[in-house]
Amino acid sequence: MFTRMRDNIVNEIDFCLALLNNADMYICICNAISDKQVSASVANGATTLADLQAELGVATNCGCCAETAKEYLPGGRYAPVASAVDAEPPRVKHAANDPAPVFQEVVVQRA
Ligand code: FES
Repeated sequence: MFTRMRDNIVNEIDFCLALLNNADMYICICNAISDKQVSASVANGATTLADLQAELGVATNCGCCAETAKEYLPGGRYAPVASAVDAEPPRVKHAANDPAPVFQEVVVQRA
């Protein structure tokens, strides 16, 4: 258990350092697979660890990287999040018989 906790802490530190340096971070040491490769695979449609294993070979040797790799899948801590900027604005449909919107003129006077 202590080894697993230590590995998780080391993974978190590595992740933070990689973010700070904007560098590749190896998720799977056995197969030399980076976070960017895993993210790209997820962006291309991988939704399960089995998908990542089939496409990249991640977590197919010792398996230590499996939990970290899963965090890149949809719903995981490192999964891509659609930004508000990318999202389409909500569309409001008006019925054909809706009255025209009423605008109120606002005059602001400086003191
Ligand atoms: S670190 Fe990924 S299989 Fe060993």
